[in-house]
Amino acid sequence: MSRSSSLTVRQVRHIGGEITVPGDKSLSHRAVLFSALADGTTSITGFLPGEDCICTMRALQAMGSVIEVHSKTSLLVHGTAGKLQPPLEPLDCGNSGTAMRLMAGILAAQLFKSRLIGDASLSGRPMKRIVDPLRLMGAKISGQGEKHTAPLEIEGASLKGIDYTLPVASAQLKSCILLAGLFANGTTSVTEKTPSRDHTERLLAHFHAPPVIDLNPDGKGKTIRVRGGARLHGRDFSVPGDFSSAAFWIVAAAMLPGADLTITNLGMNGTRTGLLSVLLRMGAHLHENISDSSCEPVGSLRVFGRQLRGTRIAGAEIANVIDELPIIAVAGALAEGDTEIRDAHELRVKETDRIAAMATNLRAFGVTVTEHEDGMTIHGGTKPTGAKVGSYGDHRIAMASAILGLFSKGETTIEDTGCIATSYPTFQEDLLKIAYFQEGGLASLLSARS
Ligand code: S3P
Repeated sequence: MSRSSSLTVRQVRHIGGEITVPGDKSLSHRAVLFSALADGTTSITGFLPGEDCICTMRALQAMGSVIEVHSKTSLLVHGTAGKLQPPLEPLDCGNSGTAMRLMAGILAAQLFKSRLIGDASLSGRPMKRIVDPLRLMGAKISGQGEKHTAPLEIEGASLKGIDYTLPVASAQLKSCILLAGLFANGTTSVTEKTPSRDHTERLLAHFHAPPVIDLNPDGKGKTIRVRGGARLHGRDFSVPGDFSSAAFWIVAAAMLPGADLTITNLGMNGTRTGLLSVLLRMGAHLHENISDSSCEPVGSLRVFGRQLRGTRIAGAEIANVIDELPIIAVAGALAEGDTEIRDAHELRVKETDRIAAMATNLRAFGVTVTEHEDGMTIHGGTKPTGAKVGSYGDHRIAMASAILGLFSKGETTIEDTGCIATSYPTFQEDLLKIAYFQEGGLASLLSARS
């Protein structure tokens, strides 16, 4: 898909069969980053060949890590044993907050200058949240203006460990500080009051540098400690399917009576699967089977479709479903009654303002939405009609809107769907594998135009 593609879908009759989704985005970033920092070689299979992760891979290549690309999803990374080379050009993080925030933590401690750049969306996202703690560690880092937006200028410095409590539940922020901590003098601790995805902790352990993790006395959050100078050692890693990509099919199947869909080789990390609890509250019928828990829980999920009812999503649950909120809003539109999403301020600073974008798109389909500063209430029960909507350059807005199109009368066109390639380059092919339409050939009912 080119950046300017559009996607047209029509109402679906049935969703069924078995599918795997592309590799997990968060894990692909971390696997390639950690193996490039490690000593020895690491074979990565199931790597997500999405634009976001390719940015991370290219940046590491530009800093001297030799990465053999054996296929789109299979890499052999020759580690640098922590000795990255100064990049000759600015490092382009594209649309990826994970690439920029995690690499900033590493670069703050490398004794060379670097510059991290991104696209228009990434250049508008807040980087002060990483600049503040990195400066406390002694980093020389600055962005543009008060929000310290990208480009980020970094002059590597000798860092010291800090004890830091996260002001916002963010795995990117947590990971940035922990990665800087690996290169700092002394111990660095990060306390999170609300659990965010724990892939960094798990993968550090996989690469033989396990952090020490203590539960907070209130039993809710935890404190994670890394030791400065801890060495990572290469170790093969297989990336499971991305739960956040599967979420589009999970919701689509869960809300279509008669649907029966199985997703295999799926990442089922409990810090990511909050959507399943939300759907169960909405009355969904799910069957989950975890077959491997060695580093990351992996398994299969079978989803049976039925009419859903509204629910409320707020508080600590938000961090666990942060990337799934656009598709949860779609489930709310088709459910009976109201679905209320609160405490989700973070959605305003994602690839786009996802509260405003989803409210606008849902209304275009005829759905009634009340927007709140920290979320939205979707008044379910109306029968949506096909619409022409924009993606706001945000992959998850594009995909969530396409799913709503499958449940809407007439035709739906989503403009500017090239962004889908940041996380799910085969979205359209996978849709054709599991969706059965009303009449005629599939190709006439779903089309993408460049
Ligand atoms: C990610 C963390 C989340 C998530 C993003 C990926 C990660 O962002 O929204 O898609 O890989 O650490 P925040 O940490 O900013 O919440």
